[in-house]
Amino acid sequence: MEIVIVDDAEQVARHAADAVVRALRRKPTLVLGLATGSSPVAAYEELARRVQAGELDFSGVQGFALDEYVGLRATHPESYATVIARDVVAPLHMTPSLVHVPDGRGQDLDAAARDFDAAIAASGGIDVQILGIGANGHIGFNEPGSSLRSRTRVKTLAARTRADNARFFDSFEDVPLHCITQGLGTISEARELILVAQGATKAAAVAAAAEGPVTAMCPASVLQLHPRATMILDAKAAADLAHRDYYLHVAANKGRVQEYAGLSDYPPTGLELSAAR
Ligand code: GLP
Repeated sequence: MEIVIVDDAEQVARHAADAVVRALRRKPTLVLGLATGSSPVAAYEELARRVQAGELDFSGVQGFALDEYVGLRATHPESYATVIARDVVAPLHMTPSLVHVPDGRGQDLDAAARDFDAAIAASGGIDVQILGIGANGHIGFNEPGSSLRSRTRVKTLAARTRADNARFFDSFEDVPLHCITQGLGTISEARELILVAQGATKAAAVAAAAEGPVTAMCPASVLQLHPRATMILDAKAAADLAHRDYYLHVAANKGRVQEYAGLSDYPPTGLELSAAR
């Protein structure tokens, strides 16, 4: 896992946007996994600025939301279908028919979940999955105890998550009890994972996810099993990391090839360590 520690939330957004742009330049028909919540909002805004400046074209990009509440009308202002349409699809000028959100209102929610995984597979799989992290270590809505191999399915929200999300609703009771979320197995199949976190309230969850044991009790710890996972953190979210100095050292030496005294044939001309993570 690569851990990028930057000073503030603005730099988190810029780094995350840069990672998406690199992927988009490689593949204009990118399949992008879209997180909701407040964490990635500034990154979406940064991408939107570049779209408006004519630098980026998201019209060929397919999008898959991470999750959706059960029971909210798709037009409810806090349904993730509405949030994704308003905060991502419109500002990034994405093609609405290419963006998918699990159907949390259907008669058969298990079928809706299976259909969602099938749609991801039919797209060729998610290239880049953007993630936030809950204060209890959840990603998507995979609460502690979620199987590390779980598929998209119905879950019951933890009281902590409902309390955290109550700020988007009139009251705690108005926060739905259930959701459909991509599973940890589903998320792990994305080719690249980018988790963004800002602020002191995320510090404990970030440290547990990055440096604790891989365990269903900290769902974000599944990132440790992924070959291409990056956490982009501001200083406050990184505050509890025991190996913080090492991550900064890695970043400071990224792309730099050591020159050994007395070994005149090393490094060979043109050698780059751009992949050193
Ligand atoms: C929400 C979402 C997650 C999100 C997390 C953190 O409930 N389902 O995808 O990453 O909880 O939210 P926030 O970014 O607002 O702190």
